[in-house]
Amino acid sequence: TGMVTVDPGFTNTASCSSDITYIDGDAGILRYRGYSIDQLASGSNFLEVAYLLIHGELPDSATLDAFVDRVNRHTFVHEDFRTFMGTFPRDGHPMAVLASGINALSTFYPESLDPHDPETVELATVLLLAKTRTITSYLHRRRAGEPLLYPDYSRGYVDDFLRMTFARPYMEYQADPVVVDALDKLLILHADHEQNCSTSTVRMVGSSNANLYASVAAGVNALSGPLHGGANESVLTMLQQIQGSDVDVDSFMTKVKNKEDGVRLMGFGHRVYKNYDPRAAIVKESAHAVLESLGKNDQLLDIAMGLEEIALNDDYFIERKLYPNVDFYTGLIYKAMGFAPAMFTPLFALGRMPGWIAQWREMQNDPETKIGRPRQIYTGATERDYVPLDQR
Ligand code: CMC
Repeated sequence: TGMVTVDPGFTNTASCSSDITYIDGDAGILRYRGYSIDQLASGSNFLEVAYLLIHGELPDSATLDAFVDRVNRHTFVHEDFRTFMGTFPRDGHPMAVLASGINALSTFYPESLDPHDPETVELATVLLLAKTRTITSYLHRRRAGEPLLYPDYSRGYVDDFLRMTFARPYMEYQADPVVVDALDKLLILHADHEQNCSTSTVRMVGSSNANLYASVAAGVNALSGPLHGGANESVLTMLQQIQGSDVDVDSFMTKVKNKEDGVRLMGFGHRVYKNYDPRAAIVKESAHAVLESLGKNDQLLDIAMGLEEIALNDDYFIERKLYPNVDFYTGLIYKAMGFAPAMFTPLFALGRMPGWIAQWREMQNDPETKIGRPRQIYTGATERDYVPLDQR
């Protein structure tokens, strides 16, 4: 029906209309619901931004309190769920465990699955925001063989996440306020980014009326790839490889430019930004603040800044409009906070959760939504006769 054109990677095809996030890739502008990312990162907090993305407006203080309180009350996970999480190999990649865990949540909360009932969708929303945080802290602890810690309602979302991740049982834990603030900012910066690979996946899966958990679990898997969220872990691997080898920064960059072995400068380039990623600018500033506050002097930060300096002045990168993206400096902050590289992409997922939910809900409520079903141009064999096995 009609003319079908191929658009690999959908570089020129809009899959939906959306009121949620605005990006001007040439100017390096990012806004959630009309509010600039700079103002939200400096003035707001993660759960308020989650509310804004999902419900479209900033909440008043009573509404925000009720929302935060409801998320808090759902932060425990079922004991059987904990047992389930404990069955994965300890050194298995946490993104696989996270996707499996989120998928499994649907079996624990069957009362939250109807995609057409607003109250049920709100329940699933709250459960996901609450339990993903608990699961993420446990992903870190299991790797070290440490027990899951129970949530503490009296603490904030980020503050208690850090405690659940890093505290020893029965011991006082006080997170550094600079670290709490930086992580809150990072979660805000990751909270939505319109129709990227994982979000498009969430919408695609949800368009079949699959439940929110199934849709978001698919998004986590899409995020895990090194060209998408997995880039934050790949950046650190790249920096460590440069640090640990005799390959200096200049010869590494030569390799990238010659496209030797498909090597890319990880954390650089973006489909939409053809200018400095506004998130990367905030992250870079934050990396300095956190390292300074923790008294950490990471040589990898110097290597990263050296790579950026070269790239921003090099024709290869200038011609292709390749700038640092959000993933370039985040890993250095997470590392300074005490997270292993394998935890970097789960932290991205924790931050992206409100965006996935908001986009899924918008899709469900959009009268124009149809099941996602792209067309193709067939290039295979024309009709031919089956040849029995003994005649081949
Ligand atoms: N290093 C070296 N060359 C690059 C890079 C890079 N990081 N990114 C793009 N290029 C080159 C690419 O080789 C191509 O060159 P040519 O015109 O000679 O063929 C040109 O720039 C255009 O690249 P593309 O692959 O057509 O661009 P795309 O829009 O399809 O890909 C991207 C976007 C983000 C996948 C890509 O820039 C990339 O692989 N970057 C490294 C991985 C990364 O940092 N990903 C995180 C993205 S931001 C947050 C997120 O989504 O998680």
